[in-house]
Amino acid sequence: MKKKTLLFRLAALVILAVFIPSCSSSTIKEAKVSSKTYKDPKASVEVRVKDLLSQLTVEEKAGQMLQVERNYLSSSDIKNYGLGSLLSGGGSTPRENSPEGWIDMLEGYQKQASKTPHAIPLIYGVDAVHGHNSLLGAVIFPHNIGLGAANDKELMKEIADATSEEMLSTGITWNFAPCVAVAQDPRWGRYYESLGEDPQRVSELSGPYISEMQDKYNIAVTAKHYTADGGTKWGTGYSGGIDQGNSSISDEELRKIYLPPYENAVKNGAKTIMVSFSSINDIKCHANKHLIMDILKGEMKFKGFVVSDYNGIHQIPAKSTYDKVVTAVNSGIDMFMEADYWKQTLDSIIKAVKAGDIKQDRIDDAVSRILTVKFELGLFENPLGNKQLIKNQVASDAHKETAKKAVRESLVLLKNENSILPIKNNTKVFVSGPASNSVGLQCGGWTLDWQGNKRQPVGNTILDGFKQMASQSGGEIITDPEQATKADLSVVVIGEESYAEYEGDDASLTLDSGKALSGNMSALKFAYSLNKPTVVIMVSGRPRIVTDEIDKWNAFVEAWLPGSQGDAVAEVIYGKYGFKGKLPVTWPKDSKNLPAKANNNILFPYNFGL
Ligand code: BGC
Repeated sequence: MKKKTLLFRLAALVILAVFIPSCSSSTIKEAKVSSKTYKDPKASVEVRVKDLLSQLTVEEKAGQMLQVERNYLSSSDIKNYGLGSLLSGGGSTPRENSPEGWIDMLEGYQKQASKTPHAIPLIYGVDAVHGHNSLLGAVIFPHNIGLGAANDKELMKEIADATSEEMLSTGITWNFAPCVAVAQDPRWGRYYESLGEDPQRVSELSGPYISEMQDKYNIAVTAKHYTADGGTKWGTGYSGGIDQGNSSISDEELRKIYLPPYENAVKNGAKTIMVSFSSINDIKCHANKHLIMDILKGEMKFKGFVVSDYNGIHQIPAKSTYDKVVTAVNSGIDMFMEADYWKQTLDSIIKAVKAGDIKQDRIDDAVSRILTVKFELGLFENPLGNKQLIKNQVASDAHKETAKKAVRESLVLLKNENSILPIKNNTKVFVSGPASNSVGLQCGGWTLDWQGNKRQPVGNTILDGFKQMASQSGGEIITDPEQATKADLSVVVIGEESYAEYEGDDASLTLDSGKALSGNMSALKFAYSLNKPTVVIMVSGRPRIVTDEIDKWNAFVEAWLPGSQGDAVAEVIYGKYGFKGKLPVTWPKDSKNLPAKANNNILFPYNFGL
């Protein structure tokens, strides 16, 4: 061999040695198709699953168990590794964020999947947690805490309908919602994702959402985060906060407070359940075999598949990725939501099956569950969902009207001295405050971006609504502070910055620190200086401490995070509609003795609302 050729070959070997390991063991090129029964839509789902499963190699099975965030893929990964699923994490949208942009993107991914030996379609998941909130122009509904206040099962169905229609217009058939957390502590950054502190209300409202979305639109839902995510203690969480922390609870509390919404979700046919980042009695839920295998799949007879939370298995305390993966699979996790470390996870599953650390039965069970959902959703026939089920366009008037109804029903009137509300005809109103004119703040986290209020959603603000209502009632809206003395009444809209997950953890809950908007107190002080009746509206994902201020307010309305149709707030303030909302949580007097109910630290009790 010529020296040059040898050198060239050596160089090629080095290059191979460097680049191949990441794609060597786990690629799926040797798989063969021996039967096509699974492709027959007339065969039963059970027969199709069995037929397909019997043809899959270990590599293909492991691929099905992987869900990868789209930003962590290179162009041929779906095909080379036979990936089972992709997701858009918070804010992960196609560059052209329109229905067409999403469809193009998904078509590209599904095309790659169709080139794998068995052409198994991907299942694509997003967090459409208050409407299809990743899509620019979508109607954004109030976050769950507001829907807990509205407490209207029919409304939950209408929201599920509108969200499904908007999702299907982008080709997406898996929603990481509803969050069925039973939240106990308002310092938690995910408090607003909860329908309230009472498991019964959480179950009663999430049930209709689940069945509507799945049965009518064939979109898989996810009940999350399994479980007791709402019971964690301050100081045990991420960076010393509360999110992803530990719930110290007895078996009785677990069964009484945190399991009922899952029992109900399973009864309603929930196709997937997401495991919580948090721990129960210091055991990470992702490593809790008793919780997943014995209780969820055993006692509750859950037949769908269990998905881990984003990179969640990497928080399992073990010395290597291999050990974490083995623990997670053997604890009952079927699909792995992964970003940075997906290839290691995939390789670990394959190696562990070959080494006998994971039994063949276990991955067969995991893959059967995943394939069952894919067949049930009709993805082999319609990889982008059933288009015939879309009745309205994105952001149709009907969807906006549903959102307005949700806003109106969610408002809770907490104080109303001398019946100052509703605002009478011909009133001059000075509207101020840092949350009075921002669709982004009204929507909060999980809106276009993970933390929200960056790319601006389309919608109407609370101030827009005041202007509409004033023009209908002979009144006037003043926003210029220099003209404020001419007003009969002052309305101050205070609020919180947008946040999601641990970034929203807030120990103080005051009106001027933590996640409170910096302009809250100056707006309030200016309003006090006018010596006029003062109405305060709060835009927030949780109660904030108002104990020292509320005596200076003539009326107080909690508006939660109303979403894109914030103008509907004014329709209730002006009396076009009555107040209906009731607190889905206990409103604390101070932020020290929490949870409020257990510590008798109550300013307004659960279910209060005038
Ligand atoms: C959240 C989940 C979410 C997932 C995918 C995680 O950080 O905890 O609720 O579904 O990301 O976006």
